[in-house]
Amino acid sequence: MPAKLIDGKAIAEAVRREAAEETAALVAKTGMTPTLAAVLVGDNPASQTYVSSKGRACEEAGMGSITHRLPATATQTEVEDLVRQLNADPNVNGILVQLPLPKGLNEQAVLDLISLNKDVDGFHPMNIGQLVMKGRIPQFIPCTPNGCIELLVRSGIAIAGADAVVVGRSNIVGIPVAALLNNADATVTICHSKTRDLPDKVRQADIVVAAIGRPEFVKGAWIKPGAAVIDVGINRIADPSRKSGARLVGDVAFGEAAEVAGYITPVPGGVGPMTIAMLLTNTVRAFKIQHGLA
Ligand code: GUN
Repeated sequence: MPAKLIDGKAIAEAVRREAAEETAALVAKTGMTPTLAAVLVGDNPASQTYVSSKGRACEEAGMGSITHRLPATATQTEVEDLVRQLNADPNVNGILVQLPLPKGLNEQAVLDLISLNKDVDGFHPMNIGQLVMKGRIPQFIPCTPNGCIELLVRSGIAIAGADAVVVGRSNIVGIPVAALLNNADATVTICHSKTRDLPDKVRQADIVVAAIGRPEFVKGAWIKPGAAVIDVGINRIADPSRKSGARLVGDVAFGEAAEVAGYITPVPGGVGPMTIAMLLTNTVRAFKIQHGLA
């Protein structure tokens, strides 16, 4: 495998250690503890796992963590009232509403309601708007996209001047990661299901970010030799050879791509651990903003 493996687990641990050190200094200085409130509506198993991992990570970093669980039958008003209550609570510094919300709930209306100073997911349209506007600086940057950039930067991969291709255009990953790459002076192409000649587009890229949500979609033959490949996908596929009967794969055909790429993230252990690490960083930032220390 000629590609260098980008060790997201190790990089995430370094970011989490830094957040823990900053938290300890803030607690010593203010006597208060940076605290994240997570809102989990319904019983989506993946969401339950994510939210408990986030809570555990906060506690390991010396931060406070509160999880509010609402049933899948919760009404729009109940969810919005909870967000209003968290907005008003001075002991809550960051608010995270785990997505997707159950069908029937208006996700946009809930995200629009989160206080800008507590929007640690960076999903408020004001924060996303500032992210894509030249010369504007958002209060918070979404965690997974910011984690992708952190992996590139901490691996010494040059972004300025690079040709970057983002495969996928979701609000959570594709669009914000493209904005971040653009802000870091890459030349960015956003590709999606209607893109013509996708393999040729990807073949031009020095940096490929795959965030399309389809298992092993990006093939090794699409990768330019030496390119950096950041795989955001987490897909569970059947694998009868495993005791569990399944395994996790990314959006990139890892084995093939690793033969061609210069750098590549594994799944699991690449981008995944970075999301929580960047959430801790954002929660520390939220605390600092709210206490005039940012
Ligand atoms: N669902 C998938 N990714 C995320 C994320 O980063 N934040 C939240 N709140 N929900 C998600």
